This record gives sequence, structure tokens and C-alpha cells, in this order.
Amino acid sequence: MVAQNLRTPGPTPLPPAVREALSRDMVNHRGPEFAAILRECIDGLKWAYQVNEHDVVILTTSGTGGLESLVANTLSPGQRLLVASIGNFGERMAQIARVFGAEVTQIDVQPGQALEPQLLADALRANPRIETVFVTHNETSTGVLNPLQALAEAVHQVRADALILVDGISSVSSVPVEPEAWGCDVVVAGSQKGWMTPPGLAFVSISPRAWERQARSTMPKFYFDWRLARRSAESGETPWTPAISLFYALQAGLRLMREEGLERIFARHERLARYTREGLADLDVRLLADPRFASPTVTTAWLPDGVNGKALLTALDERDGVVLAGGQGNLSGKIFRVGHMGWVDQAELDAVLRALQVELNSIRAPTARSFSPVSSPEAR
Ligand SMILES: Cc1ncc(COP(=O)(O)O)c(C=O)c1O
Repeated sequence: MVAQNLRTPGPTPLPPAVREALSRDMVNHRGPEFAAILRECIDGLKWAYQVNEHDVVILTTSGTGGLESLVANTLSPGQRLLVASIGNFGERMAQIARVFGAEVTQIDVQPGQALEPQLLADALRANPRIETVFVTHNETSTGVLNPLQALAEAVHQVRADALILVDGISSVSSVPVEPEAWGCDVVVAGSQKGWMTPPGLAFVSISPRAWERQARSTMPKFYFDWRLARRSAESGETPWTPAISLFYALQAGLRLMREEGLERIFARHERLARYTREGLADLDVRLLADPRFASPTVTTAWLPDGVNGKALLTALDERDGVVLAGGQGNLSGKIFRVGHMGWVDQAELDAVLRALQVELNSIRAPTARSFSPVSSPEAR
């Protein structure tokens, strides 16, 4: 068994300080210890989201629950939502909204492409009834980072009072996102991405305009009612029993993030993404994402001709300890994905590139493998 180099785009590896935090015993979630942890987590999230006026609520749920909370809290049955989808997760938001009874107008783009601000503006002009727009910031299924600030500007220019909802699940914490400065009313993030925390918490930043909308929204909501989360947080609690261990982990992860500093975190993600793209190009692997919009947190590449994705991922896992992700939806069996967000540095990506070189060589020229050095991931 080789040590595992988990390079899926979430969940992501946990630093020792976070793993230690996870081993702590329970506290009373209605007591002072938990109240202090919750306050520190909310303060840390507001720092990472770079917001003052916007609130941030923490929900015990995965990212999809966070997305569902957007629908339940900002819309009413029959209300129209423009979903600008650039991949699988945009599609998921459209599905959730339809299940709840919203009228969805959907824009789609080719896999690997970002959304043109002009396209968004045109869709709004063509649909005067639209008051709410949903955009994915970083589409984890295609490895594309949308130009969020320019998209928000395009929405504001055509319909100043439209509410902008953002899936920032695989961007916030790793990529600059400024909900207040850019006028993004609601931005959801997920703990298992860049936060060095296990899956199970969703974070939602909420603007004053979004709170006004929330007060009028008549979608059914109970567990995900943001008002209850905000009210409870004022007295250091959550409305329902929280995933206490995950709050310990988040507290530890946020402390590490503050030590490193946002600018350095963002620069590290940019650098590692570039390094991964260059390394893959050197292996003659064709990248999926338009280079102008390639994601800093996940790199996607087409499987070379004749390479079976499942066999490649299994070989990487079993022989090299490298765990990558395959494609989703229409891209299943066509691409593979390398995650580089959170607790990651160049050594882990070197190990990925070395292992890929060995496995691809062995597939392209089956006898070569026995002559190639077998790589193993660097221990940290
Ligand atoms: C951009 C994006 N949106 C939504 C989700 C769904 O989150 P979860 O799997 O935590 O429910 C993910 C998870 O990978 C994601 O990357």
C-alpha cells in the first residue's frame, strides 16, 4: 500500500491540526464552548468572503443543501429564475429550482467554456420577468472559472434590481470572491473544498437585499430557513443540532488560512493550477477548459485516445496511490479531473504528474512500464 495522494476536487486532504481538532470530544451545542467556536467560525468566514455588511450563515449540509437553501429562501412558487449553467452543477441548480416549482429559464454553454457576459445580458433583455439570476462561479465538472465580477456587472446593467445567486462552492476560500464589492447577493460555499475541512457544512453569504427577498419568499422551508440560522447565531447557537466535530475542524482550518493570508492562498492556487496545466500539456494530454478561464482549483483534461478512464484511475489509485476524479454527466468516460485546492502544494502535483506519465506510457506502449520508475506520492 502506498500513501494516498487524494487529488479529487473535494473532499480534499486534512492537515494534522484539523485531524487533531476532529478527535476532540463533544461539547454541549447550547453551551458557551460551542458559542465561542461558532462566533469564531462566522468571523473567519466573513474574513474569507471579504464581507462586512453581508451575513454568513453556516448550515449542516453538503453543498447541494446549500444550493437548495438558495431556492427555498429567495424564490416563490412560479417565480422565474435564470440559471446560467456551464456544466453539471449549474444543471443541478436548475433541477432543484424546478422541483420546488420555480419557472426556470436556462442558458447552456459548451463544456469547457465560460459564460459570456453579453449572453447573460441578452437573456435578461429577452425575459423581462426575470428577477433572479443564478451563476456558477467555479464549475467543478469542467474546470472553468466564470468571470463572476463581469457577469454581475452585466446583470446590474440590464436589471439593477435582479438578485444574483452564486454557487461559489469550489471557489470561495481559494479564489478571490468579493460578494459585497461585486454585488453578488448570495454566495454558497462547501466545507470539503478549499477550507481544509471534511464534507458536511455549507456556508451562505446573504446581502441586505437578499434578506428583503427572503422575507417575501413563500417557498416551503424549515431546516434551511436562513432566518432561523441568523437568529440562533446571535445567541451563539444553531437552530438544529450542528455537526459539532465539523465546526472544530472548520475553526482549525480557518486559523491555518488566516496564518497563510488570503493573498498568498489565492496566489498559491493560481500557481499550482498553472503548474498542473503545464505538466499535463507536457504529457501530451489535451486540456478541456478554455485557457482564458481555466480554474485555479481543478484542472480537467480529455482522456487520450484509446485510454479507458476507469482503468487509468484504478491503476493510478492502486499502483501509485494517486486518486483523481473522472468526468460527470455527458463528460463521464471522456475526461479526468485533478483537484488542487486547500491543503496542497507542488510536491503532491509532481507525484500526480509522475504517476500519470508512468501509467499513460504503460497504456500507450504496454511493455514500457516495467522499465519506468514507479513513483510514490511525497509524504507530508
Ligand atoms: C460547484 C459545485 N456545486 C455544487 C456541488 C455539490 O456539492 P455537494 O456534493 O457537497 O452536495 C459541488 C460539489 O462537488 C460543486 O463543486
